[in-house]
Amino acid sequence: MSDYNIRGYKDSDYETARELFSAGMNEYVPPVCIHVLKQPWVLFVLTCMFLCLLVSSKSLILPVLAVTLALALGRQLLGYCWSMYIDHCLKEDLRDISKTYMQSEGSYFWVAEADEIVVGTVAAKPSDEKREELVLKRMSVRKDFRGLGIGKALSREVLSFARQNGYRSVILNTLMVQHEAQRMYESVGFKKYIEFVLPTVYGKLINFTISKYRYDILPGS
Ligand SMILES: CC(C)(COP(=O)(O)OP(=O)(O)OC[C@H]1O[C@@H](n2cnc3c(N)ncnc32)[C@H](O)[C@@H]1OP(=O)(O)O)[C@@H](O)C(=O)NCCC(=O)NCCS
Repeated sequence: MSDYNIRGYKDSDYETARELFSAGMNEYVPPVCIHVLKQPWVLFVLTCMFLCLLVSSKSLILPVLAVTLALALGRQLLGYCWSMYIDHCLKEDLRDISKTYMQSEGSYFWVAEADEIVVGTVAAKPSDEKREELVLKRMSVRKDFRGLGIGKALSREVLSFARQNGYRSVILNTLMVQHEAQRMYESVGFKKYIEFVLPTVYGKLINFTISKYRYDILPGS
């Protein structure tokens, strides 16, 4: 088992930190596709398409090809939308990590290092809505270093930062496909307090569900 240590972000971590975030998020393209495929209206449209083409062409080739093409196009479209979201994050808080997190009061960015390489990241910044709330963001652990406790250690680092800086709670968002992350946060004491479908047309269409988690800091803890 590899040893790891957690330390504050340095400018030399810039590329790796951004790559870790992108790689972690990119992993969710296949699960999101499966999630979309499970939506009743999607199954209905694909089934109707298959049956209509089967009846009209009296052959299996056309309906099979058409459904395969529709699935491939859907996969491309979702992948494109997902990469736009990743790009958006890379251009926002991850564009200048030092400025956003290391030079702003009440914010911080940590990396986990193992075998002298950066294998995990997490960030924290005050919530826009409530100043006494700290938001945990950008949690990602390199695939081949998972299951070693790095995610939990990074979460605990954020909790202890919140205690030291007088925050009353730590909050975070997860998506409907981030089951490992949800179990990990629950195991360090976060509790799910709200779950909602993204209130946009696309959000409702694909049942894009966000679960918000909170860890309350007890006074004197
Ligand atoms: C979520 C993530 C950060 C966890 O990192 P990690 O270093 O493997 O986590 P840890 O080793 O500290 O904790 C593992 C815990 O996660 C949960 N977990 C890990 N793999 C799991 C799986 N396949 N299924 C269910 N739970 C799982 C378990 O609760 C496990 O605890 P246990 O070892 O006591 O059983 C990592 O999977 C990751 O980077 N994922 C991609 C990016 C991401 O989803 N980020 C979170 C955004 S909200």
